[in-house]
Amino acid sequence: NKKIRIAIDGPAAAGKSTVAKIVAENLSFIYIDTGAMYRSLTLKAIENEVDTNNEEALADLLHATSIELKPGVNGQLVFVDGIDVTNKIRQAHVTNNVSNVSKHRLVREDMVKRQQAFAKDGAVVMDGRDIGTHVIPDAELKIFLLASVEERAVRRHNENISKGYTSDLAQLKKEIEQRDKLDTEREVAPLKKAEDAIIIDTTSLSIDDVVNKIMNLANERI
Ligand code: C5P
Repeated sequence: NKKIRIAIDGPAAAGKSTVAKIVAENLSFIYIDTGAMYRSLTLKAIENEVDTNNEEALADLLHATSIELKPGVNGQLVFVDGIDVTNKIRQAHVTNNVSNVSKHRLVREDMVKRQQAFAKDGAVVMDGRDIGTHVIPDAELKIFLLASVEERAVRRHNENISKGYTSDLAQLKKEIEQRDKLDTEREVAPLKKAEDAIIIDTTSLSIDDVVNKIMNLANERI
């Protein structure tokens, strides 16, 4: 088997991590959630009261931060400086500040280096916004996942409710739109489909449908 690299990009809440995790498991590849890395820095910045507009301060903070992604029983665990932050980085105050942290060039340079080190031996599924365009531009398979904003908001809403969190559908939709706007319009490595990425619109597809499509494409390349 070839140890290919699979890049999965797309807007917020398009189901990237859900399908990436399953594809990685099916292939016995490692799964890297790069959004979790930007969320980790955002959490640490908030906790240390570092201004999310201060690029230098954020970069310094990141240089002094260890971010580890480890497989757990219920999916990937995220550790910042040795502390499990898996749940904390999903909280609304992190989600609503992460695009302001990830827009900075110095932050992205450090993150991309770390991500490239994770991918260097292949056999990896990595999801994010700039994986096919900047992190692994020569990935053997590039997927761009899309879904309507309504569908994405409903999915996130149902996920919140099933976890017992309070959830406001209209508010979620607004937040997703705002995050996509910031991620798409930023200057450095914006969210963008790589020219050679294959688009999968998941709006009316099940998780299994999407996984099967990606598995077929991966198997053609392995
Ligand atoms: O994928 P997730 O929604 O967890 O990503 C959180 C945020 O991290 C995104 O909205 C984006 O601002 C940033 N991000 C990024 N580049 C990546 C992955 C995530 O800028 N490769």
